[in-house]
Amino acid sequence: MRSESHKLLDTVVLYLRNAARVTVLTGAGISAESGVSTFRGSGGLWRDSRPEDLATTHAFMNDSLRVWQWYEYRRELISQAKPNAGHRVLAKWKTTFQTFSLITQNVDGLHERAGSRDLIPLHGSIWKVRCLNNCIKSPASWTDKSVPFNRLPPLCPDCGSIVRPDVVWFGESLDYKNIEAAFEASRCDVFLSIGTSALVRPASEFVKYAKSNGSFTVELNLERTTISDYVDISVHDKAHTSLCYLDEGLMRK
Ligand code: OAD
Repeated sequence: MRSESHKLLDTVVLYLRNAARVTVLTGAGISAESGVSTFRGSGGLWRDSRPEDLATTHAFMNDSLRVWQWYEYRRELISQAKPNAGHRVLAKWKTTFQTFSLITQNVDGLHERAGSRDLIPLHGSIWKVRCLNNCIKSPASWTDKSVPFNRLPPLCPDCGSIVRPDVVWFGESLDYKNIEAAFEASRCDVFLSIGTSALVRPASEFVKYAKSNGSFTVELNLERTTISDYVDISVHDKAHTSLCYLDEGLMRK
């Protein structure tokens, strides 16, 4: 890690030491070190398709098999992945601060596997499915960790309709309870935006809301993003490296 990053992170440690309420928003970049591809940038494409063209109701209605093949590819990748040191630091921080909130755009479940609880999962879970027909017999959504499914697209065991991943697609509404909880959590002393391109709303709004309410705002990302100039401190390095450095700094207190 460059000494320039160290200096910036040392300042973040000072703010974290005095913080009672800390909130973190994560995106795909935190799972990159676990081998899970991000959505945008190099490696973000799947068979020449952009996620924005696959993660929509329109794409699913047009070709549910293709969309399910993409999800099955990702489920397989994620099932082989392990939480990394960045996920583990965030799981630990639940007991480091008086109030710690974790908002994630990720559907991979790696935060939970690292031990994070009570997180705000904005975009759902890749391990949950729901009946496209909303049939009365099946639950609203259920966990199915089959990799691979014995049939694609998988079918509802109760009515035989196609099931869909229980994730939020482009153009769909997020659960209002999650949005409310995320805005509430964004009223904090320190807000960290980690491994996200900050291009997808409403997730990208929380850091702005936090700053407008007086939070000290931090970005940890490998590269510059649209919020790099907006936040108080932006550190360009791997998420798990920066998080481990911050955690070590906090332990030195
Ligand atoms: P993106 O793929 O848009 O952005 C990933 C970010 O992670 C980029 O800014 C990278 O620079 C950064 N990054 C990559 N490797 C990193 C590392 N090792 N350490 C730190 N940063 C790293 O992913 P998201 O911002 O999560 O939505 O995308 C937001 C939403 O768009 C996703 O939840 C998904 C997607 O379409 C839905 O499916 C609804």
